[in-house]
Amino acid sequence: MASAARMSAPALMVTLAVLALVAGGRAQLQYGFYKGKCNASDVEAVVQSLVKARFAREAAIVAYLLRLQFHECAVNGCDGSLLIDGPGTEKTAPPNLSVKGYDLIATIKAELEKKCPGVVSCSDIEILATRDAVALAGGPPYAVRTGRRDRRQSRAYDVKLPGADYTAAQAVAYYTRLGMNAYDTVVLLGAHTVGATHCSAIKNSRLYGYGGKPGATDPGMDPATASVYKRYVCPNVSSSDGNTVFLDDQWSAVKVDNHYYRNLQLRRGVLSVDQNLYNDGSTRWIVDQLASNAGLFQSQFARVLVKLSEVNVLTGTQGEIRKVCSKFN
Ligand code: HEM
Repeated sequence: MASAARMSAPALMVTLAVLALVAGGRAQLQYGFYKGKCNASDVEAVVQSLVKARFAREAAIVAYLLRLQFHECAVNGCDGSLLIDGPGTEKTAPPNLSVKGYDLIATIKAELEKKCPGVVSCSDIEILATRDAVALAGGPPYAVRTGRRDRRQSRAYDVKLPGADYTAAQAVAYYTRLGMNAYDTVVLLGAHTVGATHCSAIKNSRLYGYGGKPGATDPGMDPATASVYKRYVCPNVSSSDGNTVFLDDQWSAVKVDNHYYRNLQLRRGVLSVDQNLYNDGSTRWIVDQLASNAGLFQSQFARVLVKLSEVNVLTGTQGEIRKVCSKFN
């Protein structure tokens, strides 16, 4: 290859442009990637103000967005592929049918398209909006890097999400594939500090059919809690399947705090996978540590959400910047 010193100016410029393009395909996420790229608008401020307005009307948005980030990033990475509408897309896979919050991502995208068309990716909007909702719900403020791009593929059969009855070992094995360890796994499940599940997720496995025995209740569940669920929340009739159960106590259901871990110590975890983190000796110490140290949970929760937000991202010239989050360009 000719040395730069011996190249003509036009040849040098072409070479540099080609090198920039090649590097662009492998570009890194950056803090403040959108600074100065959206005319006079501050992209992160626009996202934050729309999340704030929604949170004021519906605090449960924090739970919707946290779950959305998980279901997005765990399947082929944080690439916006969960947002695509249409037959056979990720959104149509059974675990995603109860994911909410798509409308807020669409609203933010529409607003940003007005301010600077074709600049801000849907995948970045998901990560920024979740970050802002977590802080509004009393969770840790944290910085996220941006510059993600949206994947031009979304397939329901790629959706392999963990089961509500996973053992601790199964949960850890699942997250290991995403680059996490046992500690990260226990911290990530702390997202169940907010939001709710449906009775259908616990009726057979915990309340009325534990271990495959008709009528048996999970002995690992605090008996007083089990009896409240059985009497009032999830009675043994099929019409109760859609009733909701808060994953953390009702008063703490929209608050990002370490109360979830204290509940596990009291055997009041709702999903088996939650309670199993305490029942299993190899993860119990992590639950104990996080339950006794609110500040530690906050800093660790921020760390794992950032880690999750960077799983298998597309950057540079990969993928696309969608015009509408629910459709490929
Ligand atoms: C082994 C791992 C996990 C399992 C088995 C699991 C399972 C579940 C299930 C079954 C529900 C209830 C869904 C419904 O009934 O509609 C749920 C809700 C939820 N999950 Fe997870 N989850 C896991 C990890 C995570 C992670 C890593 C996050 C986020 C970082 C997360 C955030 C949430 C939130 C916030 C809700 C409440 C959603 C709402 O109220 O709309 N989960 N999860």
